[in-house]
Amino acid sequence: RIRSIVRGVGSYLPKRRVTNYDLEKLVETSHDWIVQRTGIEARHIAADDETTSVLGIRAAEAALADAGLTVADIDLIVCATSTPDYTFPSTATLIQAGLGMHHGAAFDLQAVCTGFVYAVATADKFLMSGSHKRALVIGAETFSRILDWQDRTTCVLFGDGAGAIVLEAQEGEGTSADRGVLTSQLRSDGRYRDKLYVNGGPGSTKTTGVLKMEGREVFRFAVGSVTDVVQDAFDATGITAEELDWFVPHQANRRIITASADKLGIAQEKVVITVDRHGNTSAASIPLALDVACKDGRIKKGDLVMIEAIGGGFTWGSALIRW
Ligand code: ACO
Repeated sequence: RIRSIVRGVGSYLPKRRVTNYDLEKLVETSHDWIVQRTGIEARHIAADDETTSVLGIRAAEAALADAGLTVADIDLIVCATSTPDYTFPSTATLIQAGLGMHHGAAFDLQAVCTGFVYAVATADKFLMSGSHKRALVIGAETFSRILDWQDRTTCVLFGDGAGAIVLEAQEGEGTSADRGVLTSQLRSDGRYRDKLYVNGGPGSTKTTGVLKMEGREVFRFAVGSVTDVVQDAFDATGITAEELDWFVPHQANRRIITASADKLGIAQEKVVITVDRHGNTSAASIPLALDVACKDGRIKKGDLVMIEAIGGGFTWGSALIRW
């Protein structure tokens, strides 16, 4: 059976770093309030010329370099984003062009903060079918462009950035190299639309709109849904929380992450946290965190890595990967 193996990982952050102290000058808030409620200390915010596709191109280039591959080796690009440069064409095709790639297929996928998990699951199914050989799976976002910078309840929570992995189809199961995406679990429930949404779009206000969120409701839903879908991944594979090497959750809020790990019986030292320095970068948060934990030597070949996320929709999901 074919398995989708992680060949490389990369990421890119906008140059401008914005601290909580900087935000104190913008809205009625404090560094202490933000740290206590969310764990966020700083985030990166894109300049006008750092569009989602530009961040995605940089992250993709870094992932290709890490894999020791070029675009000639890639035949699929899946980009998870809710903040595309344009309504169309897709950010994925802009990234494809920016990489100088003129073959294969590229498309966007939108599942808000769960986008990267959905993109991994989608690319994995393309590779397992035998139709494609190597995929760039990208999460790229500029949420700063859909924030109401006068709304302190939301503008302090988010940041911009991009991350990418290269997945490669290899014969896997049953060999000593039983690596790759072992399972992916995807869920959604559109009844929760009003809890977390952007109040604009071509079909409504014909403007881009800004992010609206009922924070407490999202928080309450997040811990339960995330733990359920991670448990589903454990059940599907027979792997236990003790066997896990690294838990790399969507980085929305340190309290959600800590509560979820506790409930699942995952030791806190196995939890990768980057929300302190990146804020919530939506679909980019997991590949950004994966890149940090690979580059600093925590995630190594053969390690069992659980990724999970919850986002607007609601959407939520998990994937268990042997690195
Ligand atoms: N600075 C100072 N005070 C603030 C701020 C701020 N930035 N924002 C809100 N407050 C105030 C509120 O006005 C409120 O004041 P009041 O009591 O006088 O009315 C008080 O702080 C408490 O507000 P709550 O919203 O009840 O605070 P809570 O403890 O719930 O924390 C938070 C808010 C951080 C948003 C939390 O609910 C949360 O993290 N929810 C999950 C949100 C999330 O993770 N979303 C993303 C997941 S999905 C995705 O990634 C897209």
